[in-house]
Amino acid sequence: MAEYQTFEQDVLIVGAGGAGLRAAIEASAAGVSVGVVSKSLLGKAHTVMAEGGVAAAMGNVDDRDNWRVHFADTMRGGQYLNNPRMAEVHAKESPDRVRELEAWGALFDRTKDGRILQRNFGGHKYPRLAHVGDRTGLEMIRTLQDHGIHQGIAFHMECTMIALLTNGGRVVGAFGYDRERGRYKLFRAKAVVLATGGIGRAYKITSNSWEYSGDGHSLAYHAGATLMDMEFVQFHPTGMIWPPSVRGILVTEGVRGEGGILVNNQGRRFMFDDIPANYKTSTADNPEEGWCYTQGDKESRRPPELLTRDHVARCIVREVKEGRGSPHGGVFLDIAWIKEKLPNAAEHIKKKLPSMYHQFKQLGDIDITKEPMEIGPTTHYMMGGVRVDGDTQMSDVPGLFAAGECGAGLHGANRLGGNSLSDLLVFGKRAGEFAAKFAKQQRAAEIDSEQVNEVSRQSLESFERSGGEGPYQVQYDLQDMMQDKVGIVRVQQEMEQALEGIQKLRKRAANVSVVGNREYNPGWHTALDLNHLLTVSEAITRAAMERKESRGAHFRDDYPDKDPASATFNLVVRKGNDGEMQVSREPLPKMKDELKRIIEEMK
Ligand code: FUM
Repeated sequence: MAEYQTFEQDVLIVGAGGAGLRAAIEASAAGVSVGVVSKSLLGKAHTVMAEGGVAAAMGNVDDRDNWRVHFADTMRGGQYLNNPRMAEVHAKESPDRVRELEAWGALFDRTKDGRILQRNFGGHKYPRLAHVGDRTGLEMIRTLQDHGIHQGIAFHMECTMIALLTNGGRVVGAFGYDRERGRYKLFRAKAVVLATGGIGRAYKITSNSWEYSGDGHSLAYHAGATLMDMEFVQFHPTGMIWPPSVRGILVTEGVRGEGGILVNNQGRRFMFDDIPANYKTSTADNPEEGWCYTQGDKESRRPPELLTRDHVARCIVREVKEGRGSPHGGVFLDIAWIKEKLPNAAEHIKKKLPSMYHQFKQLGDIDITKEPMEIGPTTHYMMGGVRVDGDTQMSDVPGLFAAGECGAGLHGANRLGGNSLSDLLVFGKRAGEFAAKFAKQQRAAEIDSEQVNEVSRQSLESFERSGGEGPYQVQYDLQDMMQDKVGIVRVQQEMEQALEGIQKLRKRAANVSVVGNREYNPGWHTALDLNHLLTVSEAITRAAMERKESRGAHFRDDYPDKDPASATFNLVVRKGNDGEMQVSREPLPKMKDELKRIIEEMK
């Protein structure tokens, strides 16, 4: 019999990043009891890694901006695989969510006349990212925490969930352990919101910290929910690459938004070499002037460094592969060049990009006001996740909701920078609201003690084995393989090898042994994370093999073009009755005529 402490909540929220906190605030405001569990400490969420801003069509810097343009940009960025209802709701509601955050104390940078300042970012037609220097995510988390802490929400920090508990097809709680003492905790809940973030730790080079092992994706999958768009993993073009200990740490797109340019080892601004046809006008290639024009609209001209992330990342890979890379295998990102145009450039850079200035100074001994940075792509964000209803955020499993990065639908094949922060505000709020509504309509369901005993028994197996391999090597080999074979550029044969590799790693994971006891035992924690990492890696690989085209963040060297026939479906991943993972195609959700018209107009 498992020994555990029991906690009872109407709504349980797993994850304390922006989506989880926003959901908690909303659910609590609806008058239900709310608990939040966080794998790590409060304030450490990946939300802080969305540095450059939150996208919201407020039109403070360019009054031509509005929700329609934001909607069209998001759909184009997602290559039209997005859930159009989510893209509509997101574009309409994000300005209010940003203003609400301001009312709760977030201090955004200001325009000269005192409005919230907005900056350019890749794929957004107008300056749209409300920001706080290059610390926007941090300010958002700070504000949500300060606000949430006064709402009577119960927080359980350093607490990891191993399984969701279901009964009669409905979710009734979650089971996990506190990391410090290793004691089990059972949360009985009428509704559960997953807000666990991404899967970056399935890859070797990532901007994600240790928490992001795809827990929410995997918990939902094993509880019977449907995952969607798992082939779409976003590789942010600019991560640090040197020294090796900091490889992968994010270099905000805000650097390019403030005028940073990308150059190869020949000093060439190589982004001009591959501007997609739909962005080009007759005057597009003009490196002298430094712009490529979008959609023939000279007033919204953009530098090519601000093309979408998938495209920029691939151009960087091309430069490196063809021998034009920087000494440590990346390219150069130069913001110091703006001193040619701006007399007080150094001050400007330090003011607009304070974290980047300190990050490079302290970690790389580079002064970015004087010299270029060396950067390369880093695994940053997962577009795929739990399939949810576009209005309520409920998954296929009654009572199970998902928001933020672990939910799917808004971003389609590729997310635009800054849309993650608005995503988590808009859909975090909605998930909290509808989870509370759902909870109010339910009686607490019974916990199946057999299920709890089984989960707890399995979770201790690694202690019972001796002489087995340690879990770190398995984790390392998985990350290495995913980076190499299911990374930025994919081919069928390598993905088949990866799938085979995953099956072998599963066997190794089932035989790992850990020593010591349950009190703060990182070996044990890693052994438990392996199940999540292997689950999401398999889902990514299977979906990537099934999508035989290149679209958004999914690029196949053996199918380098878009296939119009593949623009009609999302790939979904479910656990079959035999326990095996199954991938199938589902037609895209229907789009309202009004939304179709907007897309046509904006084209
Ligand atoms: O580059 C960045 O600041 C990241 C933003 C985002 O992922 O939304």
